[in-house]
Amino acid sequence: MVIVLDFGGQYSHLIARRIRELKVFCEMLPYTTSLEEIRRHHPRGIIFSGGPASVYQPGAPTVDAGIYDLGIPILGICYGMQLMAKQLGGVVTRADHHEYGKTTLEVVDTTGLFCGFAPAEQCWMSHGDRVEAPPPGFTVTARTELAPVAAMADHRRRLYAVQFHPEVVHTPRGRDILRHFLYDVCGCHGTWTMGSFIEESIREIRQKVGEGRAICAISGGVDSSVAAVLVHRAIGHRLTCIFVNHGLLRRGEAEQVISTMREQFHIPLVYVDASERFLKRLAGVTDPEQKRKIIGEEFIRVFEEEAAKLGQVDFLVQGTLYPDVVESGTATAAVIKSHHNVGGLPADMQLALIEPLRWLFKDEVREVGRELGLPDEVVWRQPFPGPGLAVRIIGEVTAEKLAMLRHADAIFREEIRRAGLSRDIWQYFAVLPGLRSVGVMGDGRTYAHTVALRAVYSSDGMTADWARIPFDVLERVSSRIVNEVPGVNRVVYDITSKPPATIEWE
Ligand code: XMP
Repeated sequence: MVIVLDFGGQYSHLIARRIRELKVFCEMLPYTTSLEEIRRHHPRGIIFSGGPASVYQPGAPTVDAGIYDLGIPILGICYGMQLMAKQLGGVVTRADHHEYGKTTLEVVDTTGLFCGFAPAEQCWMSHGDRVEAPPPGFTVTARTELAPVAAMADHRRRLYAVQFHPEVVHTPRGRDILRHFLYDVCGCHGTWTMGSFIEESIREIRQKVGEGRAICAISGGVDSSVAAVLVHRAIGHRLTCIFVNHGLLRRGEAEQVISTMREQFHIPLVYVDASERFLKRLAGVTDPEQKRKIIGEEFIRVFEEEAAKLGQVDFLVQGTLYPDVVESGTATAAVIKSHHNVGGLPADMQLALIEPLRWLFKDEVREVGRELGLPDEVVWRQPFPGPGLAVRIIGEVTAEKLAMLRHADAIFREEIRRAGLSRDIWQYFAVLPGLRSVGVMGDGRTYAHTVALRAVYSSDGMTADWARIPFDVLERVSSRIVNEVPGVNRVVYDITSKPPATIEWE
């Protein structure tokens, strides 16, 4: 395995991602991690990430200089390079001209990390400070117009550093640099797969849980399902899953969760149909944030009630993913937003957390799900908001509106699947805007509901573009909805990107 020491850089998580893509297991640890702890992991290599600080700033992040004597290869990136240079006796200064963006790299040494490189390659720079002179024992391996030392190496001690960012796509040969470091310098084999991830996780979970008991809130989404199945593999019946159906799910979803968990995996599952209870609390509520708050609170209440019936429980399993960890703020990165996974679980339950997926990205979780044998409907389930259909019904949520929306949404999903478009589109769903308009059906005038269709391409939900669904598919969806869903006489397609719109209507 390889350790990424995080100095709070905005691309740190990308470094981890690239290493995984090269099939090497890695863990990201805060820069404050002790040498002892680092040694305990037996890493084959260490990567220092970039970071926002300047090495000369008071209190700037640093590491125990003993790290260079461990005999473990190190690659410093950006701030990581400056730190290495400063600690080992090089010269780092504040540059007059900052270098940001695409830059031409003049490769001086085509051995080591730049093996097989052309004399000029493109790279992505983002730095204020720069290394003027490398430390004793190092040679300059690349430079740019503004950086006399854009990369340096001490081949004997296997210490390498680059000022630019090999982890971003704008450094086209960045992957080769990381590959040379991991395979050639560190001697990693690139054999780490999701299969080995599963085995390692099971071992770790067993060790952590011992003879204890765990619970897991299941939502039907891929993250909580994969986490549950993984933990169940590790500790068997000592895991109990709780599935709170808030009545705001899509058609067939509750049945799917129950059959997957109970029939396919034989996981002890407490199923609570709390639909009535949620509907009652939502009666008369029209404000979207109010709806979210009520649903979140009610969810916790039901979950706590059910958990209390189970007696002594020691652990709570959560399907937290790596991006959630980053968003919640690691020891070094700034807190962007507070953790909101699983609709916010009870803070005062005194349970230790098990988060087996906290190092994984979404596509890796899907891969783990596939390895574990979860059905395609779960593995490829599109993101679905915790408050469910409540935020897709504008205005008050009622049983009638839910039935209408569920029906229209099921038709849309079926047609998208049939057209083979489901994997290309990030999310596709129906919305009930609470709007009525005049129509004509048969010989009669109607005054009925409009259904809006929303479908977007996205890679992370932060930005999105409306999906270019072929007209004939839209036509089929529209005619089926007005013909098959009572109370609907009009269908519109939302062609707004995010920003300025959001993906959900509420
Ligand atoms: P927006 O609508 O903000 O959505 O563009 C971005 C992503 O977040 C999902 N979403 C939610 N997920 N609780 C959730 O768990 C919520 O209240 C919520 N609101 C939006 C949305 O489906 C999309 O994937």
